[in-house]
Amino acid sequence: MKTYIIGKPIDRVDARLKVTGAAKYAAEFSQNNLAYAFPVCSTIGKGAIATIDTGAAEKSAGVLAVMTHKNAPRLKPANIMEVGLYGTLPGESLLPLQDGKIFYVGQYIGLVVAETYEQARAAAGLVKVNYREVKPATGLAENKAKGKKPEKMFVFLEAQPKRGNAVTAFNAAQVKFDQTYSTPTEHHHPMEPHASIAVWENGRLTIFDATQAVMGTNVVLAQTFGLDKKNVRIISPFVGGGFGCKGLIWQHTMLAAMAAQAVKRPVKLVLTRQMMQTNVGHRGETIQNIRFGSDKSGKFSAIKHETTTYTSDGLMEFFFEPCGLATQMLYSSPNVEIVHNVVPLNFGSPTPMRAPGESSGTYALESAMDELAHELKIDPVQLRLTNYANTDEQKKLPFSSKKLKDCYTLGAEKFGWKQRIQTPRQMRDGRWLIGYGMATATYPGYRGSASVRVRVNADGTALVQSATQDIGTGTYTVMAQTASEFLGIPVERIKVEIGDSDLPPAGTSGGSQSVASVAPAIEAACKIVVKRAMETAAKDKQSPLFGKTEKDVSFGGGRIFLTGDSSKGETYIEVMKRANLSKIEECVTANLAGQPPGGSGAPCSPFTANPDQNADQQKYSFHSFGAQFAEIGVDEDLGIVRVRRWVSVLDIGRVVNEKTARSQVYGGVNMGIGMALMEETHYDPRNARPVVRSLGDYHVPVHADIPPQFEVYFINEPDPHLNTLGIRGVGEIGITGVAAAIANGVFNATGKRVRNLPITPDKLL
Ligand code: MOS
Repeated sequence: MKTYIIGKPIDRVDARLKVTGAAKYAAEFSQNNLAYAFPVCSTIGKGAIATIDTGAAEKSAGVLAVMTHKNAPRLKPANIMEVGLYGTLPGESLLPLQDGKIFYVGQYIGLVVAETYEQARAAAGLVKVNYREVKPATGLAENKAKGKKPEKMFVFLEAQPKRGNAVTAFNAAQVKFDQTYSTPTEHHHPMEPHASIAVWENGRLTIFDATQAVMGTNVVLAQTFGLDKKNVRIISPFVGGGFGCKGLIWQHTMLAAMAAQAVKRPVKLVLTRQMMQTNVGHRGETIQNIRFGSDKSGKFSAIKHETTTYTSDGLMEFFFEPCGLATQMLYSSPNVEIVHNVVPLNFGSPTPMRAPGESSGTYALESAMDELAHELKIDPVQLRLTNYANTDEQKKLPFSSKKLKDCYTLGAEKFGWKQRIQTPRQMRDGRWLIGYGMATATYPGYRGSASVRVRVNADGTALVQSATQDIGTGTYTVMAQTASEFLGIPVERIKVEIGDSDLPPAGTSGGSQSVASVAPAIEAACKIVVKRAMETAAKDKQSPLFGKTEKDVSFGGGRIFLTGDSSKGETYIEVMKRANLSKIEECVTANLAGQPPGGSGAPCSPFTANPDQNADQQKYSFHSFGAQFAEIGVDEDLGIVRVRRWVSVLDIGRVVNEKTARSQVYGGVNMGIGMALMEETHYDPRNARPVVRSLGDYHVPVHADIPPQFEVYFINEPDPHLNTLGIRGVGEIGITGVAAAIANGVFNATGKRVRNLPITPDKLL
């Protein structure tokens, strides 16, 4: 397929709104008569409320209501299977203020509603609580034996996949590699905190919400409040970063709705940075044992990846950090065993965080690959080629498209991998020890169903609507770009409306699936609209399109041209104007094959329903791949690690916008640098309280930490099977492999192997 504007690095269509502050985020939707809510949070990690005294809070200035489990309205638990079809789920099964039981520090145990935020917050501090405290379970290693091995992950993925007999093959192998790695608990910390403004009007609930899932929030809120879905509207036009923590539905949104119902006024609830650490998910700590059995050339006979991680104590069954999922398909081996051992601990529920499983799992797997290559004196790229998987050996399916070899080759060339010296501590730049590291990147290609309404107006503008979201990734831009391609209307004249559950339904902005799901629906809807416009034009004797069909035209530079004979370049818009047609409109739901119209489609992301419904999922395995190359400097005296140079080469199918796609990879790699070198949430093991409490002590990369030389390349080969446009999505793959490439570079620089993230200076001294 020849494209004109798809693929171009056009500027963000919402850039001006964002830099001028005109883009409105959830907490900014001011309401008349607005009241403010502030939660009371548990200070213990496990137990129950013995007594709760709200007397002083109720008498405090400006207070309108104080809610606890004693007076809060009863909510209904959401039906996970039904909710899942809409692309997301509640973040945990706990509903707010239903009883006095406590499962983690920070759990909401009360809510104060007042005239101002300050009054609500001050009064929340006056609520006196006595607890019946039980010792919380906090240590992952200590509680390992209490772990369970769930059958499923994300409701339908196999959580303990295996083939052959990895243990027997490992024991018989010529070369046995066996090492254990660990990753700490991490938090998403997007710049915009979670926020909900709830408004009840004539039995209809509207919530301005910071969410990656307006449809999912709509369904969960409808179910918990016993409302018809039509009577719940979720509005979220701009989201200040999500990374997964805004993907599932959390209790504060329900609290805002409960509060607004109680005081009969609109209520705003904005989480503090501290609540963002305890109430809206995180990436759970992991301990990962990797075993390889191979021959002397490094060819695998066995791979075993055993992960111990945790989930909250009885509140979350379907999600834990799935470190081994990529290991089942990334390398060729007849014997593979993936184990996920999940321990219940007294923390809030873990949740997806950018490439859940792949980012923490590839740290262990790709570090182990580097260690084995070093032991066997094989180049790390070569070891990966030796074990290259030509098919998905676990699913026994061909990949829809896999250009990983091209990623290794191009990456090695652009990086100058040939210059690497296998023996550590051979390269120096003044006081800096220099090392080169690489790793494989991978993330599944997901696709859900999506509906889109496209309207072409007689003034030559178009409107594209869908209940998807832009969480900062550029969804507005690529939607306008896709519509421009297929309508022949310039991007500047296309308006995109998203982030509203009243619009045609679409899925969660999670699993890197939004563009792969929504863009094919736009294509389908635009084609129908164009066909209708063409039919009108074809009947117009004055039109250069007279007697033609859509087969006779082509699109370019935002205009429609006749193929063949000389065209005046008149667009069908001008024809519509003359024919007095005010608009042509089509709403299309595209399913997995991108086929309009009708049907609910076949969702196939971890946030949606059973992929077996979908025939294509049975024919192909969909994955994106890539290679990460890093030049690392380590200050020998101080143990400081600097990432000096970066090359990412990614195979993500067709690139829709080279600029926004590259920005996603910059962001992913930077998040990976944070994971490798800085990010870590500590808890006090005695009482389960987080010790790290602010962005002052939760360290993330700043500009000075970003590699001064940073190159991103795309293979840009359309996926022939995932959708009509060949798009596989780019949001998450950028972070995968990053921590390993850095750890491997640190080893090459220093000879020191750090097997527990983050690689802080103390671990190198
Ligand atoms: Mo992403 S962790 O799938 O929101």
